[in-house]
Order: sequence, then C-alpha cells, then structure tokens
Amino acid sequence: TYVVTESCIKCKYTDCVDVCPVDCFREGPNFLVIDPDECIDCTLCEPECPPGAIFRDDDLPRGQEEFEAINARLAKIWPAIIHKKAAPEDADAWMEVKDKRGLLEE
Ligand code: SF4
Ligand code: F3S
Repeated sequence: TYVVTESCIKCKYTDCVDVCPVDCFREGPNFLVIDPDECIDCTLCEPECPPGAIFRDDDLPRGQEEFEAINARLAKIWPAIIHKKAAPEDADAWMEVKDKRGLLEE
C-alpha cells in the first residue's frame, strides 16, 4: 500500500486525490492519509504530490516509518475526500519545512 508521510502536513495540496482510481484518500484538518485496505498500489498518486509526501510502504524514507500506522489508524476515523480542493494559503511556505510531525492535527 502507499503511505502519506510528514511533508504533507500543512501542505495538503490534494493533487493526489484527483488521480486515485479507488478514492482511498481520507481527510483530516491539515493532512491526508491513504486507507491501506482500499489502496490498489496503482502508483498514480506518488508523482502528483508537490512535496513528495507519498511512498510505497516498503520504501518509506528513514524516520517516516511511523506514518504507515498513522495512515492506517486515521483512515478509520477521517472522512473520504474525492475531489481536489484549494491548498492552504501558506502551503508553499510549509513545503520545505522539516520536522512537522508535532503539527499533525487529528
Ligand atoms: Fe490511490 Fe493508487 Fe495512490 Fe493507492 S497508489 S492511494 S490506489 S492513487
Ligand atoms: Fe498531501 Fe501531497 Fe496529497 S501534500 S494532500 S499527499 S498532493
């Protein structure tokens, strides 16, 4: 399955949503997750994300491993998002920021 990682936090461009053929993205206040029970590993979302937040679960960057469980957990709580929407106004400013894990709102 594919996993949304830290760099999505406060960026939330939602370009990923429009290409997903099985509508498996779920939306929180400042982050999206992928429902691992729905993702079919089609790979289409990965290149669409401006900050490069999406990785295959067996190819997660070092330090991002916890996001596999975060996606699985929050996918059960958050509602589906099936259409792209406007990114936060300050999304570009957050794109290069590291260590955003503590800013994730649930
Ligand atoms: Fe959706 Fe495909 Fe991305 Fe999985 S890999 S979340 S099925 S677009
Ligand atoms: Fe997040 Fe990238 Fe999608 S920033 S909302 S995973 S396009």
